[in-house]
Amino acid sequence: MDFRHQTLASGGLAGLTCDALLLVVPGDAVDPTLEQPLSTLLSDAVTQGDLQLKAGKVLYVHRPAGLRAQRVVFAAAGATTAKAFRAAIVAGLAALKTGGAKHVAVGWAGDLALDGAHAEALATAAAETAYLYRHTKPSAPPAPPFQKFTLLVRKADAKAAQEGLKRGQAIAAGVGLARECANRPANHATPTYLAEQAKKLAKDHGLKVEVLDRKDVEKLGMGAFLAVAQGSDEPLRFIVARYDGAAKGVAPVVLVGKGITFDTGGISLKPGAEMDEMKFDMGGAASVLGTLRAIGELKPKVNLVALIPACENMPSGRAIKPGDVVTSMSGQTVEILNTDAEGRLILCDALTYAERYKPAAVVDIATLTGACVIALGHHHSGLFTADDGLADELLAASRAGLDPAWRMPLDEEYDDSLKSNFADIPNIGGRPGGAITAARFLSRFTAKYPWAHLDVAGTAWKSGAAKGATGRPVPLLTHFVLSRAR
Ligand code: BES
Ligand code: MN
Ligand code: ZN
Repeated sequence: MDFRHQTLASGGLAGLTCDALLLVVPGDAVDPTLEQPLSTLLSDAVTQGDLQLKAGKVLYVHRPAGLRAQRVVFAAAGATTAKAFRAAIVAGLAALKTGGAKHVAVGWAGDLALDGAHAEALATAAAETAYLYRHTKPSAPPAPPFQKFTLLVRKADAKAAQEGLKRGQAIAAGVGLARECANRPANHATPTYLAEQAKKLAKDHGLKVEVLDRKDVEKLGMGAFLAVAQGSDEPLRFIVARYDGAAKGVAPVVLVGKGITFDTGGISLKPGAEMDEMKFDMGGAASVLGTLRAIGELKPKVNLVALIPACENMPSGRAIKPGDVVTSMSGQTVEILNTDAEGRLILCDALTYAERYKPAAVVDIATLTGACVIALGHHHSGLFTADDGLADELLAASRAGLDPAWRMPLDEEYDDSLKSNFADIPNIGGRPGGAITAARFLSRFTAKYPWAHLDVAGTAWKSGAAKGATGRPVPLLTHFVLSRAR
């Protein structure tokens, strides 16, 4: 898909060459500057009750008289924010996606300012609407017809729009990669497949990649990661990728993604219902790959390291058992009371590995706990950090990327449930505050650098009829890394 922007002289909409005109109506009244015949068309539809000017409402008009465009869609936004603009575009494109419009021009229904965030929102919304999983479903319906989008802007906003479109396209490509990786079933998206994806990214975007196998991981002493992987016949991978956009000495940002390509629970086996969704348990890893892709395209002046421990969590004759004690790379021993709390086991060794970079900040991203889904549902990702500055940065990135996150507590009092008679730490607390005790477990391995943890168990994928990966939190992570560039 191609995205560009265009400034229009007044009266320019009627003569505009495009297949469809998607006009976003910001408030509950028709803007007096909207040109004819669009102005009459819109106000008539509103007075006659065919379009309510409430967020989410859409009116489709075929072959409108007096316009060059073959179709007009009015999409009510209810507000002028980028978030409202994005939601209106998603609704408007839904009305067009089974039609024949290849070139869609998008703008406000009136003379309104538009900034980079609005432009970014167009690119990400269009890509989201156009995405269709088909790798293992040849019978998937044809893709929407969209090939080209033109954002209609005022002259003063042209530069911001151009930058926003560029950023939005990079983020959309990253989100698309993350969705595609996570949607692929676990017999396709193996640890080896994730490593191949990282290598391909490196080739296309000039990144450096190193893939460690079991022998390397043994040498490093990653006893916790090895313990999870030992139950599976599928070989583990530890993926190390770096993007060097700043000078050599500049401390990097490190992203660590949970790459459990399938989580059966292990000997602490999960119930059967919805177990298929545990193919998405590498959503954190997928989002790290997606962010690498976006950053590799935008090339900001920042150093970035991506670490992905990847393996399956399976029950078998070689699998870990409840009560087993393993020694993590940090030297701390861990009592595995529940083999289904495997994410923190693979992450803790990756977090210790991260120390070698003397990082400016480390953020891990993981579909870590069902408890986080209970706490926050499917809208906000859970953000855990003891560092207020880092929390503010990540929340700002979340707002900028329209990718909601909510800060959760991380007080040390929660450590009361992390006591073991047989090891330095058990791998589970109790049921209460399960997302927090999981984060507290991880914090034991992060003393050497500023650290934050994102629990995306509720946001990395959707269940039900629209089952599929979301590509979150690629927008948040990309904005965070961009904000760290000098
Ligand atoms: N991958 C799951 C977390 C998860 C569960 C994500 C449901 C999305 C939906 C994780 O490995 C897990 O199994 N966590 C356990 C931890 C428990 C044993 C302390 C959980 O949340 O039940
Ligand atoms: Mn699990
Ligand atoms: Zn898991």
